[in-house]
Amino acid sequence: MTETGVPPLLELNRVTVIRGDENKRVLDRISFKVLPGEHVAILGPNGAGKSSLIKVITREYYPLARKGSFCKVWGEKHWNIFELRHLCGIVSNDLQGMYARDISGLEAVLSGFFGSIGLQQNRVTPAQKRKALKILKFLGIESLKDRKMSVMSSGEARRFLIGRALVHDPRALILDEPTHSLDIKAAYHFKRMMRKIAASGVSIILVTQNLQDIIPEISRIILMKNGRVMMEGPKKAVLTRRNISRLFDMPIPVTRKKGYYYAMV
Ligand SMILES: Nc1ncnc2c1ncn2[C@@H]1O[C@H](COP(=O)(O)OP(=O)(O)O)[C@@H](O)[C@H]1O
Ligand SMILES: [Mg+2]
Repeated sequence: MTETGVPPLLELNRVTVIRGDENKRVLDRISFKVLPGEHVAILGPNGAGKSSLIKVITREYYPLARKGSFCKVWGEKHWNIFELRHLCGIVSNDLQGMYARDISGLEAVLSGFFGSIGLQQNRVTPAQKRKALKILKFLGIESLKDRKMSVMSSGEARRFLIGRALVHDPRALILDEPTHSLDIKAAYHFKRMMRKIAASGVSIILVTQNLQDIIPEISRIILMKNGRVMMEGPKKAVLTRRNISRLFDMPIPVTRKKGYYYAMV
């Protein structure tokens, strides 16, 4: 419990995950908490274990059963995947791969109500449609609603997947490398949208290898390296030349401008 008596949104304690033929320790005693309403970034190089960590939350990867080891969402260890969707919307590149299909942007958002990839045989109620349209308006993508997901640019399609995750009014949105493959303009618009969602009271948990993705609303940073939490703390204390150089194993000067941080390499 937190001081206010409200459970943390997310709490991992000594989570270890072993995968693959070589029994690789993809996550090694990971512990951290995210409080309700907090915006956090999990930053680390490729292969650090960031996506594996998300798979623990979605129950695709199971941690080794050890005393004192757990992954709690909203104070509970056991959720079914349907309940989990109301708490955490998750947008990953895996999901985007599944959506490269002949369905419209609006249908993609509506499919969130059913937890399905397309709409299939599901019947959409007028209330669900109203809600989906409201979200599209909030995200500024209504004009693209009839465009097929298969022909949208990466940035456009990703915004519809955010819309899909928001239909349940989740308390948190977990974004795995959201600016991956976006050009400068698309990344800029994506970050503006992330800021708007953060300001609306949804916790943003941003998973990235890119300092520039860290929107000013994010106040705490968790650095991940080799399946471990290397360090965590307030943004200003963590995003220093020394820490970022250690994280990526090379000298990386870091600068800050208008609330954003940049790796000067
Ligand atoms: N199912 C798996 N089988 C074997 N190796 C895996 C599996 N899942 C993850 N890994 C390995 O664990 C490491 C961390 O992967 P990942 O979580 O995708 O890192 P990140 O998202 O930080 O780039 C990588 O070396 C990856 O190859
Ligand atoms: Mg990844």
